[in-house]
Amino acid sequence: MLNFNRTRTQPRSTRSMSLGGIDYMDPKKKSNVVGKILLAASFTALFILMLKQSPTFNSPSLFSQHEPGVTHVLVTGGAGYIGSHAALRLLKDSHRVTIVDNLSRGNIGAVKVLQELFPEPGRLQFIYADLGDPKAVKKIFSENAFDAVMHFAAVAYVGESTVDPLKYYHNITSNTLIVLEAMAAHGVSTLIYSSTCATYGEPKQMPITEETPQHPINPYGKAKKMAEDIILDFHKNSDMAVMILRYFNVIGSDPEGRLGEAPRPELRVHGRISGACFDAARGIIPGLKVTGTDYKTLDGTCIRDYIDVTDLVDAHVKALEKAKPGKVGIYNVGTGRGRSVNEFVEACKAATRVNIKVDFLPRRPGDYAEVFSDPAKILTELNWTAQHTDLQKSLEVAWRWQKSHRNGYETTLPMASY
Ligand SMILES: NC(=O)c1ccc[n+]([C@@H]2O[C@H](COP(=O)([O-])OP(=O)(O)OC[C@H]3O[C@@H](n4cnc5c(N)ncnc54)[C@H](O)[C@@H]3O)[C@@H](O)[C@H]2O)c1
Repeated sequence: MLNFNRTRTQPRSTRSMSLGGIDYMDPKKKSNVVGKILLAASFTALFILMLKQSPTFNSPSLFSQHEPGVTHVLVTGGAGYIGSHAALRLLKDSHRVTIVDNLSRGNIGAVKVLQELFPEPGRLQFIYADLGDPKAVKKIFSENAFDAVMHFAAVAYVGESTVDPLKYYHNITSNTLIVLEAMAAHGVSTLIYSSTCATYGEPKQMPITEETPQHPINPYGKAKKMAEDIILDFHKNSDMAVMILRYFNVIGSDPEGRLGEAPRPELRVHGRISGACFDAARGIIPGLKVTGTDYKTLDGTCIRDYIDVTDLVDAHVKALEKAKPGKVGIYNVGTGRGRSVNEFVEACKAATRVNIKVDFLPRRPGDYAEVFSDPAKILTELNWTAQHTDLQKSLEVAWRWQKSHRNGYETTLPMASY
């Protein structure tokens, strides 16, 4: 059901009434009118009676009631890259899904894909709303019976956050507070929160464990850390089951080619390395700029931990399964293996089969040399480990979708083969 849940503003139908002049009322006519009114009233009563006896009358929406054996998950930001992949997996696992998104960055095309795959009643609904609007959020929670929330919705570009920090504190920190308050008010028992390795800042020691001190160095990381703190403080006096997942660099897309990553063209400038790579391969940008070749790493370029979106979504499902009332789990979601920017570029060239032009430039201020995770805790406690660790393969899958969706979700070309 595509439910663009807008407030109804249509005026009630009004009838023009002549109030001027004095009408002479013929008594015969009067009894005729009374008869007609009585007839209309009895028809209306009969109609209401019939409706009441019909099985669908008074039956609330499937989304508004808890159903034993069905987990209803609110996926905020479900029109976005990671949220849409998570919604697909939840639906495949027979969960009931409500996506809430303001489409500021996501794609209604992704929601349509999901809708076509799961058209049955009570599987998926889409609600167009802004999480920064407390009234809208309250309404959503009062009209739907959620069992869990996966809170993906966020603005998520480090560079943009340094230019427009207030947007980040509003969108990430303040909106998380609004969602959390609504969850508490409506007794929603489980929260899976999308956090980031950016909350760690520039740790002195690698790999990063969950115990590594968090000293974020940009507003994006700070806003996420503040949101984490709000959740953790609230949790001290709550029975909510909370899982905080700190993702490393997310890449890849649905192996079956139904979904992909399609950021708005105007956001390309803030983009992530995989997006830039594909744009270079398609000739949208002239080439790649690798900033910094003199870091203390094996090949001199920065090192990051790239996690495939399929694995990331799997971590969410495991987190949902293992979430326990009154408990909080905090986990790094990464491969545990660092890859240099050079390695990434070579994998991208091989995946796209395009000899992408690469310019090597001096270091960019604010970039840190090396970031990779220690994923031991999530393996021990949630039995999760990354499976899709072949960088080139992950990029091949993503490239296949990119090639057949040159304008993101707006146009679909026949699926390219490898
Ligand atoms: N992509 C990564 O590499 C990465 C890494 C670490 C953490 N994360 C986190 O994962 C989450 C999802 O990121 P993504 O890469 O899928 O981003 P995305 O931009 O593709 O998706 C975010 C979605 O949230 C929606 N949204 C934003 N503000 C909203 C609001 N106020 N109300 C309703 N909807 C709103 C957007 O329209 C979009 O559909 C974010 O919380 C992000 O911080 C992402």
